Formats: sequence, C-alpha cells, structure tokens
Amino acid sequence: MRNQRNKFTLAKGITYLNGAYMSPLLKSVQKAGIDGIRKKGKPFGISSDDFFTEGELLRKQFAGLINQDDAKRVAIIPSASYGLSTAARNIMLEDGQKVIVAAEQFPSNVYPWLRRAAECNARVEIVKPPDTTILRGQKWNDEILASIDRKTRVVAIGHVHWADGTRFDLEAIRKRLDEVNGLLIIDGTQSVGALPFDMQKIRPDALICAGYKWLMGPYSIGLAYFGPHFDDGVPLEENWINRLNSEDFTALVKYEMNYQPGSLRYDVGEHSNFILVPMMIRALEQIRSWTPAAIQGYCKRISGPALDLLRAEGFWIEDEKWRGHHLFGIRLPEEYRLDDVKKAMIKNKISVSYRGSSVRVSPHVYNSEEDFARLVKAFRTVRPSR
Ligand SMILES: Cc1ncc(COP(=O)(O)O)c(C=O)c1O
Repeated sequence: MRNQRNKFTLAKGITYLNGAYMSPLLKSVQKAGIDGIRKKGKPFGISSDDFFTEGELLRKQFAGLINQDDAKRVAIIPSASYGLSTAARNIMLEDGQKVIVAAEQFPSNVYPWLRRAAECNARVEIVKPPDTTILRGQKWNDEILASIDRKTRVVAIGHVHWADGTRFDLEAIRKRLDEVNGLLIIDGTQSVGALPFDMQKIRPDALICAGYKWLMGPYSIGLAYFGPHFDDGVPLEENWINRLNSEDFTALVKYEMNYQPGSLRYDVGEHSNFILVPMMIRALEQIRSWTPAAIQGYCKRISGPALDLLRAEGFWIEDEKWRGHHLFGIRLPEEYRLDDVKKAMIKNKISVSYRGSSVRVSPHVYNSEEDFARLVKAFRTVRPSR
C-alpha cells in the first residue's frame, strides 16, 4: 500500500501520530456528512424507507469487516459505553462469580462491570501486567489465562490495551473460557478497523466498537455485535423503531411487544441518523478496500526503522508479537523527562498521546516513514547528556 494522505485534509507541517485519540476524517467521509446535512435541509426527500435502508447497509459493512455472516447481529450504538453497558446489564452473575478485566483498562469497559458485579454480589478481578519489560506482553497474557477459573463468568477486555498497545491473545482466552463456560466481551474500539478481527476464530459473545478511532467514522456512532447469549435480553431503552414491523409507520400505535430480529433491539434510538450513518458507511467501505491486514503491514513498514533506532538508544517498545503496529507505547529511558518530551512534541508539531510513563504512538495510512523520522529527531532534541 502507498501513503494515503491525499485522501485526508490533514494540515501541512503537522505530524499526526494519534489515531488512537481520534482518526481524522477522510475527505469522502466529510462529503457524506455534508450531503447528509443537506438532505435534512430538504426533508421532503427523506422517505420512511430511508429510516432503515442505510442502517442495513452499515450493518453489512461492519459484518463484512469482522467476518460475521449475519448482519442482523450488528447493532448501531452511540458509544462504546452504551454497548458495554448493554452487555453487562444482560449478563446474570451469580454470588461469588467474577468478571476479569486488564489493569488500567479504558473506563467504558470497567464501570459497567463494577455496577453489575455490585448488583449481583459478584466481583471484578483486575489482572495487572508484570513489573518487567522482559516478555511483558506474553507474561501479562499468561496471567490473564491463569486467572480464568470456574468462578469466571466474563472476561471483558480489548484486543489491544488502549494505553500501550499490548495485544491480548483473544483466541487463547476464548479457548480457556470455553472450558469454564465463560463469556468473552471485547471492546474493539482501539483495534477493529486497523487490526484484523475474525469473528469465526475469536467467537466473542459481544464485540463493541466506538466508531471515531480505527473505524474512521464521526463521533457519537459505533457498532456492536451481540451473539446468541443476548437474544432475549433487555435493551437499555425502549424505542419504537426496534419493535417488530416498525417499518409500517401507519401502525406504530398498534403497540408491539416483540422486537426486530437478531440484535436490532439494542440499536440506539434514532439510529437512522441521516448524517452519521452515511459517514460511517463510507469510512467502512474505504477500510475494507484497504483491509486491516494491509493497514498493519503499512504501519509496520513505516515505523520499523525508527523503532529500531529508538531501541538502540534505550527506549523500550513491546515485542512485535505482543502489540499492534497501529498502536504502541514508547517507554522513555530513565534519564529522560516526560515534560521535556511533551514540549519537544509540541514544538515540532507532532501529535501523540501520553499514557502513564509511555508515549503512545498510533499511526495510520496517512503517515509516512518521514513522520517517524521527525519523531526520532524530536526525541533526540531532549536527549540528556550522559
Ligand atoms: C479502549 C477504548 N474504549 C472505548 C473508548 C471510548 O469510549 P466511549 O465511546 O464510551 O466514549 C476509548 C476512548 O479512548 C477507548 O480507548
């Protein structure tokens, strides 16, 4: 794959290595949004079919991205917290059972479990990373596997850790959960779209993704897969369009107790958003035409030489096997001061994030090898004399 910066409107002179914070919008996605605004300006052009057709296209795009056959298992949600709360509220925990999460996980995938555990007299078990940089990713994964036992009802985790990109071996976690009859709930917000995710291999019970990061969509729309465990569940809200036959606008007050099939009961109210849905569709079309595998390959190629240089200078970056190429932490050598690094990044117009003691770097196809060369140069401007 070649550099795709011309498909975006990133300003010249800015090095944006911060897709994990939020992606920039493709020009084509911006256009879809503007077209959506114009459409609402002339509402006589919006038919009752339009409340459904685009949503169905969006479900299909997301299902295709994650290798899921049945698009009716995809719900349109406004945020990761909405999808994860839906999952948590529909899982019965028995007295003494536990929900396993990784340490310092993003709060949207922690608070719903703390509440649910408190309601059910269950508990949330937090698995910490080992206090070492040697085989850190592998050992953290081993710890998670070792913590799964007969008391485990749920593992709620990401494919990669949002702060430092540590990759969790979801296939191994799934296998272990099968042995104890546990559920696997994935927050795919920091991975799906940029890292291949295969439903057939990972078989999660739910997969929840906010749309504005690696799905490259706008803010306030996301997508979720809910599996058979959730088929008879209760949605967070009772909205009219999720009821069976809601397509018939003349019969809406013949109140209907049944829901639309699959996971459509979990769609957020007003999910037929005429601005956000077309934007999200366009973004997914582009991602699927690039493919997440090619995005990984591209990010690996442009970051590789710079990371080798940084490693040689004492920075620590997780082994490739245990991280994403689209998201990773760069831990500073002891003598560096994080404040100096932050100032250097601002001075050099480099956008990255800071999570704990690491600099979080998250490239995409709009980045280049030169962006990484600029990153290395910026680090060097604050190198303390030895
Ligand atoms: C792992 C992860 N999940 C979810 C979110 C966003 O959550 P929400 O959509 O609930 O705001 C973020 C944002 O940084 C994240 O890093």
